[in-house]
Amino acid sequence: MLSINIKDLSIPELHNYLQYAIAPRPICFASTVDKGGNVNLSPFSFFNLFSTNPPICVFSPSRKVRDNTTKHTLENILEVPECVINMVNYDMVQQTSLASVEYPKRINEFIKAGFTAIPSHLVKPPRVAEAPVQLECVVNEVKSLGSGPGAGNLVIAEIKIIHINEAILDTDGKIDQAKIDLVARLGGDWYCRVTKDNLFKVAKPVRTIGIGVDAIPYPIRNSKVLTGNNLGQLGNVEVLPTDEETETYSQSPELKDLLDATIGDSQTRELQLHLKAKELLDEGKVEEAWMVLLIS
Ligand SMILES: Cc1cc2nc3c(=O)[nH]c(=O)nc-3n(C[C@H](O)[C@H](O)[C@H](O)COP(=O)(O)O)c2cc1C
Repeated sequence: MLSINIKDLSIPELHNYLQYAIAPRPICFASTVDKGGNVNLSPFSFFNLFSTNPPICVFSPSRKVRDNTTKHTLENILEVPECVINMVNYDMVQQTSLASVEYPKRINEFIKAGFTAIPSHLVKPPRVAEAPVQLECVVNEVKSLGSGPGAGNLVIAEIKIIHINEAILDTDGKIDQAKIDLVARLGGDWYCRVTKDNLFKVAKPVRTIGIGVDAIPYPIRNSKVLTGNNLGQLGNVEVLPTDEETETYSQSPELKDLLDATIGDSQTRELQLHLKAKELLDEGKVEEAWMVLLIS
């Protein structure tokens, strides 16, 4: 393990390690106006949702590493404490990147990047029509994190109105995670795209108190076949199957064959059962996997 004390790194080196490691980051495409009404549009990946009640997003226009000046977005927000946070999908990513060019102040990046500005309902900055979700926000506070190059400025923005393109909704009227087609920023020039193929589910442990990995019997916990993810799934159950349930399950033709084929060879039997359990866990069949493991 490479262990580095922050004080031994230059700011660009530190920036590089952190941007690659703390990723992917969602992109806030923020539109703002100055007090003369001039519009600005810039992307920020130091961004996330921090509260639902009240609904608060935070993003951070940093002081420039090169010359320690501040970004137009921050200057505008200090003049007019409002913004629209436009979410960025795959179809918008190249134009969004173009909008990050350091155009002079009062140059409208809607025009430079070729996006369509539409009026907001409540705040002065316009929305990006192409964005699948647009959040009209009032800025409650700006918290400076330092005065040196690279210092962040937390823009604490309260969402007042949410606009959602109906095309990304499912039949229940909820946002379809695949249809929204979001992109996120990683280190350097890397981005990633959220597609149907790379989405997966993890069962929420909030409603149950899982037994925990420490309560899994040692031979299972120490399995050469089961992975950390598999142990996490097994530790997320509240109760184990009963002896009767396990016994009934062991009579199923597939398991019976496995057990018959390994009579007198406990090592092979355990290995085969663990492989079978892993297969079931990878299909999300946790209860069945437990029954297989308890046979051993
Ligand atoms: C995808 C993406 C994410 C970015 N994230 C940030 C960020 O979180 N903070 C930041 O200060 N600059 C970030 N930048 C750079 C700014 O967008 C860039 O400095 C821009 O010129 C700022 O514009 P402004 O001065 O008009 O506000 C990012 C650029 C891109 C393309």
